[in-house]
Amino acid sequence: MADTRPTCDTNQLTLLLLYTFCLRQVPQTIIIGVRKGGTRALLEMLNLHPDVMVAKSEVHFFDWDANYRKGLDWYRRQMPMSLPGQVTVEKTPGYFTSTQAPRRIHGMDGSTRLLLIVRDPAERVISDYTQVLYNRKERHKAYRPVEEFLVREGELNSRYKAVQRSLYDVHIAAWLELFPLRQIHIVDGDLLIADPLRELRQVENFLQLPPRIRPANFYFNQTKGFYCLRSGGLQRCLDPSKGRPHPPVDGVALAQLCRYLRPHNANFFRMVGRTFRWCAGQRAAPSVTGMGGGRHRTTSSPVFRHNRRQNADKKKDRKGQLKAAILPHC
Ligand code: A3P
Repeated sequence: MADTRPTCDTNQLTLLLLYTFCLRQVPQTIIIGVRKGGTRALLEMLNLHPDVMVAKSEVHFFDWDANYRKGLDWYRRQMPMSLPGQVTVEKTPGYFTSTQAPRRIHGMDGSTRLLLIVRDPAERVISDYTQVLYNRKERHKAYRPVEEFLVREGELNSRYKAVQRSLYDVHIAAWLELFPLRQIHIVDGDLLIADPLRELRQVENFLQLPPRIRPANFYFNQTKGFYCLRSGGLQRCLDPSKGRPHPPVDGVALAQLCRYLRPHNANFFRMVGRTFRWCAGQRAAPSVTGMGGGRHRTTSSPVFRHNRRQNADKKKDRKGQLKAAILPHC
């Protein structure tokens, strides 16, 4: 006689477990900045990890009073569904320069791990300007050349907001008053462009995640001039607003900018115990004055040297597919 009892196959069982245990958690990890440092790329790349769930848009909870007043429960509701053991990550680059965000994040959870992606601060200024420039052009509004913002009466205009945001030492000080340096992982934004996997490995390590992001998750897109992402059989690059050509910048203005930033950079290096080759002999000039990201448009990255590991990694990739397929139903 045929068995008429209801059966529950493995997939149904998995779904049942997910429905039972899925929850929204406030992030255990926050990408706090820097604006135009590569925060979107970092978030999207981290999202390749099966144990990471990310908030798709910038939440601005800790830096916008109107959102902060909505309370922690509102914040939690902005987060994606996740399973126990998964790490929830959100990114809002405005946090880094906010005077309130360090204290508010610390108040939520003093053990929150912070990711800070930095980039040559002179180039960051130009990237900041470029974003505004494109926005104005798109809306057919008038725009002024960057030199008009950078230089006032022959002096560097240190009150220009984009310059202020590039004073990494000033902003990191507020965070270091509350968070020990070991809780802040600094990602090199310039290296993330040139060799994403290497930077991601270090982030996995910092977050105590097993290494699951693989060389096969990246491919170099010649047209875009940047690495793009491959996951679950899909390929995609970041939004066209990421990695746009920068306008040419007058060398004198650039030299003034670098001169102004240099002591701040040195101070930042001392505070984080690490150095970066920023404005070195104004090395930044060719890339800033040329095409944005151009110097990073290399295909010789070690990403391509790991291909032999691709087959071994295929099995792990299926986990990522499961995450993509099932979690939205939670
Ligand atoms: P540019 O547009 O000035 O080149 P953010 O996401 O914080 O706004 O940072 C934007 C920057 O991310 C871009 O600045 C770009 O250089 C950098 N970036 C890093 N990796 C990238 C990638 N794989 N694709 C596109 N842009 C990337």
